[in-house]
Amino acid sequence: MTLTCKSMPSIKSAQAYIHGFSKNEQDRLIRQSTFLESYIYKNIDFSNCHHIIEIGCGVGSQIQILLHRWPHLKITGVDISQSQINRASQLLKSHIEAGRVSLHVSHGGELPFADQSFDGALVCFVLEHADHPLNVLKELKRVMKSGSSLYCTEGFNTGLYVYPTCLAFQTYLEIFNHYQKQLNGDPDVGVKLCNLALKAGFSDTQLGYVPIQLDNRIRDISQRAIVINFFTECFFSAAPELIAQEKVTPDLIEAIKQELDLLKNNQDSIFIYPFQQMKAIK
Ligand SMILES: C[S@@+](CC[C@H](N)C(=O)[O-])C[C@H]1O[C@@H](n2cnc3c(N)ncnc32)[C@H](O)[C@@H]1O
Repeated sequence: MTLTCKSMPSIKSAQAYIHGFSKNEQDRLIRQSTFLESYIYKNIDFSNCHHIIEIGCGVGSQIQILLHRWPHLKITGVDISQSQINRASQLLKSHIEAGRVSLHVSHGGELPFADQSFDGALVCFVLEHADHPLNVLKELKRVMKSGSSLYCTEGFNTGLYVYPTCLAFQTYLEIFNHYQKQLNGDPDVGVKLCNLALKAGFSDTQLGYVPIQLDNRIRDISQRAIVINFFTECFFSAAPELIAQEKVTPDLIEAIKQELDLLKNNQDSIFIYPFQQMKAIK
């Protein structure tokens, strides 16, 4: 049965989130944002903003980074999942008590805020999970002030390149992408960001790569392992569910671990994941 009641669209989408809401996964989101901070924030600037909004704030780890970088900001975080907001409330307790942060459970396509409430917006790894990314951007535009900036960072799984070829990993990735699409997500939404933003009515869109590239320039094995382990953890976060649904086998997961271990030790290996980042103006 499809839920069509206006007050309930979040229920279906909250359940249909490929990474899930376990404590391990919530901890992973904190590690992920720490690992990616220097890449993601290189071209983000909220220094002239006062009150910004983050859609799909998860456990609040981007908000923590935002407050560290721009301590004057007031930030409103929205997530479709109550359990993410509960965890974010713990992480950001002192900032909430100080009136700097407020958190809300809401679908990004139906925000409980007045028009023109915010003078900046962040979206990070959310549209790839959203059933209607265009609706999220339209709604975001409604609550943003004219002239304010939206920064949006998303994945582009088809752009992942690995050398030498890792067949087990390639097989897993195809199954992962297919499953994400079954859940109404889009593993390649990153390259569509400008199209979506222009359709939503934003202007001055700029799209850039946030490339993470492992190659011969990183010679230290432990540094190489950090990059590989980061992506392994990210893609494997869906593995328990994929195994439970018999879409992949534990043997395939073992084979991938061995393949990726070889990449760590092979100085000629290449691993590129091109995150996409868009800036758009309302
Ligand atoms: C990968 S996490 C990213 C969290 C955070 N932005 C970060 O970078 O750490 C994606 C989050 O988007 C939320 N989400 C997915 N679809 C959503 C929607 N339509 N509206 C609001 N939040 C959504 C999920 O519940 C999840 O917490």
